[in-house]
Amino acid sequence: MAHKLAAGNWKMNGTRADLGQIMALAAAHPDPAVDISLCLPATLISEAAQHVADHPITIGAQDCHSAGSGAHTGDIAAQQLLDAGARDVILGHSERRTDHGEDDALIRAKLVAACDAGLRPILCVGESLAERDAGRTLERIGAQIDGALEGSDGPPSALVIAYEPIWAIGTGRTPSLDQIGEVHDFMREQLKARYGDTAAAAVPLLYGGSVKPGNAAEIFGVPNVDGALVGGASLKESDFTPIITALSAS
Ligand code: PGA
Repeated sequence: MAHKLAAGNWKMNGTRADLGQIMALAAAHPDPAVDISLCLPATLISEAAQHVADHPITIGAQDCHSAGSGAHTGDIAAQQLLDAGARDVILGHSERRTDHGEDDALIRAKLVAACDAGLRPILCVGESLAERDAGRTLERIGAQIDGALEGSDGPPSALVIAYEPIWAIGTGRTPSLDQIGEVHDFMREQLKARYGDTAAAAVPLLYGGSVKPGNAAEIFGVPNVDGALVGGASLKESDFTPIITALSAS
């Protein structure tokens, strides 16, 4: 069975003044029954990691470069994130695919770099509303997973996949539970076909897109949903805690 994971994505939000939220989260979950990760702006990683050094909460990044070092102004290598205290890294988030033109081949290269450095990759996939309306959701998800995992004989170490329908991110809209279940079942089958039943069962499959305290429990009741990637509701301990509690109870 896959580990359950509640991962927060702070996106381009937060300054050092907000690190108290992370301390509060650690205090609220002294012995968590599920994995908890907060993927922060790079500026906060080092200090946040020091704050949770004695707690199972892990700190993550939101992107890494595919190269180990070199002339890439403004970019950060996976090894540098690890050195700063990150243990996880979000890859292929739809906002990076849109804002920075990231394609599946680049995301694959980043995935390899992240795994080589020893980071846990959280690979994001998801369809646009136009793709869903055209009945192309599963085709799109399948292509994104194939593109990112091409050439790997076994699952990249500690791989996590997050299904995030683009139209549900930050909008307050969520797919129906049946729609979430359909995609998660599909992803599990795709991993089984690629890596076999045992390895596929160990990959946590997260749902992301407008997860809130009010809808978390029902989403976590969907088969093959092993956790959530949470944006807006991860910024405040008081919002994230009930989501973590719901996952622990699921
Ligand atoms: P949201 O973002 O929870 O604010 O919709 C999720 C994400 O983009 O990871």
